[in-house]
Amino acid sequence: MNGRVVVVGSINVDLVVHADRLPLPGETVLGGQFARFQGGKGANQAVAAARAGASVTMIGAVGDDAYGTDAVRALADEGIDTSRVRVVEGPTGVALIGVGARGENTIMLAAGANERVGEEDVELDSLRPEVVLTGFEIPYPAAVAAVRSARRLRATPIVTPAPARAVSAELLALDPVIVPNEHELTVIIGNDDPAAALDELTRRSGGAVVVTQGPAGALLAVRDRRERFNSVRPKADVVDTTGAGDAFVGALAAWMAGGASLEEALHAANAAGALSVTAAGARGALPSRAAIEELLRA
Ligand code: RIB
Repeated sequence: MNGRVVVVGSINVDLVVHADRLPLPGETVLGGQFARFQGGKGANQAVAAARAGASVTMIGAVGDDAYGTDAVRALADEGIDTSRVRVVEGPTGVALIGVGARGENTIMLAAGANERVGEEDVELDSLRPEVVLTGFEIPYPAAVAAVRSARRLRATPIVTPAPARAVSAELLALDPVIVPNEHELTVIIGNDDPAAALDELTRRSGGAVVVTQGPAGALLAVRDRRERFNSVRPKADVVDTTGAGDAFVGALAAWMAGGASLEEALHAANAAGALSVTAAGARGALPSRAAIEELLRA
């Protein structure tokens, strides 16, 4: 069953250099060839959900430059409804990304048009979503508004708390599903010990917390319950981990929107994340639903 996913999130262009190792502060390293890819956590999640079988609407903003035109076209080419993407004066969001030999990355973001996404953009009633995705590459009030609207419409809100920042009591009271990596987990709750941070987060919010742990899979935490979901490994090398979290969240949303339980959706999300790192670029290897199902069967 196809479900409807709405993404209220960021749209970027990614400017990427691969190098044998990432530079330290103050250091210059010689990299390989420069490449430009479509990116933005929100837009990547939208594409991941669409390829995983969901009907997707993207809400966000691009600048009135060539990057913005390309970004919207790329989303539309994936079958995503882009009628709610605004074109605003100024530059599209740009991410400067370095990728090291093991596929690890660092990202620096110039938010550009993403900063102009506001609460007024978050009108979800007419879209009738089953799942609403949002994150912090757009202004925080817009992300909170997306979660609030999702709750009002009885849709499942899923928050990717990146770039990491402290989360408010107002957001936690809405019990969204929160999907941080271990670093984001410590920052959003302000506790350097990941286990203690998780305990505190699940005390303050009744929503599920899914901690992504790269090749180790994911840890599901709800109140006092802790359950590990191991990742599956495709038979291919890791090339670029950029966007692996977005692949995970997009598939999670598509499966849940289609009626799967959170637990069933987590297996699919792990498979999507594992497949997504096997080619360059955040969207280079975002898998189809068929590819995810094939890896799950294997
Ligand atoms: O999660 C990966 C994404 O983070 C990149 O595509 C980049 O645009 C940044 O938003």
